[in-house]
Amino acid sequence: MYRFIRWFLFLFNPERAHYLAIRLLRVSLLLPGFRYVYNRLFNVEHPSLRRTVFGIDFPNPVGLAAGFDKNATMLHQLNCCGFGFIEIGTVTPLAQSGNDQPRLFRLKEDQGLINRMGFNNDGVDAAIKQLKNRPKNLIVGGNIGKNKRTPNEEAENDYLKSFEAMYPYVDYFVVNVSSPNTPNLRELQDKEPLTRLLVLLVNRRGELTEKKPILLKIAPDLTNEQLDDIIDIVKETSIDGVIATNTTIDRVGLSTSESTLAEIGAGGLSGKPLEKRSTEVIRYLHQNSMGSFPIIGVGGIHSAEDAMDKLKAGASLIQLYTGFIYEGPGLIKRINKAIINQEVVNGKR
Ligand code: FNR
Repeated sequence: MYRFIRWFLFLFNPERAHYLAIRLLRVSLLLPGFRYVYNRLFNVEHPSLRRTVFGIDFPNPVGLAAGFDKNATMLHQLNCCGFGFIEIGTVTPLAQSGNDQPRLFRLKEDQGLINRMGFNNDGVDAAIKQLKNRPKNLIVGGNIGKNKRTPNEEAENDYLKSFEAMYPYVDYFVVNVSSPNTPNLRELQDKEPLTRLLVLLVNRRGELTEKKPILLKIAPDLTNEQLDDIIDIVKETSIDGVIATNTTIDRVGLSTSESTLAEIGAGGLSGKPLEKRSTEVIRYLHQNSMGSFPIIGVGGIHSAEDAMDKLKAGASLIQLYTGFIYEGPGLIKRINKAIINQEVVNGKR
């Protein structure tokens, strides 16, 4: 069934297809009985799927990655697809339109996407308006970034603004310094500015009554030395975990022709071509930190096997984006079923 829907959606340019898919989901859920049908089709509940990670009880470990629901406008609809949690954003303090279109491209031969969206979003106040009406049973993460016009020297203020404003409305935070589509953003991954930024947020959190987890989202293009720095930073700042990984600027090993890639131009590559590298990053962080902090594994999960590889490499939770586009919500169910079966085989249940 999803193959037919995908065939139809892939007739449109990727950004239009995204909004069309959302509209289809929204409209179908207005029809009587469809919410029930979706829940029956996609939701899996089982004790083996439950996880407590950084103090939050997740109904299952499969989440939706940031970038899909940037403005938190689709939480009620996406909540019917079987996800264990959903991350909104990246949210910036002020609304911004992002880069010029076209800015999202399919690499069908590689089951990938290249995007240079550039944090298009309606700003933190609009996100909060939506979050006030969020589904109560859903775990929602808030992914935060800086506005394009804010220079790196003032980036801390942007992160702090969104952090403070969204604090009452999300369950955990993600500090995104790893998007390749905001000029110079990834320089904030360097040890000194990153430590300063995270200390600022952790200190601010200390002044608030409830403690909400703060995670750091990193790029897959970091060297081992930079990953060692990340491990040190997590320890020094006592943030709660890492999301590995964002999209890559690497283009090695793709089946898509050089000329097509040249035509597409700059952007972050996601999907199947990212799978191996992001799993490597997860394994490196997990092994070299002695598993001392939780990792959310994301990058190129298109099958239950891909998901199991990430969990085996040390991820406590996983997220999907491109795999969700190519495989549909059935992928979430297949992953959750595989986790249940694995635990049965291992004799845990
Ligand atoms: C993203 N991603 C992303 N990440 C983030 O932290 N903030 C964002 O705003 C976005 N925006 C975004 C837009 C689009 C169109 C894509 C495809 C991706 C990155 C995403 O959350 C994820 O980390 C990567 O895409 C890798 O996972 P997949 O797509 O290979 O499953």
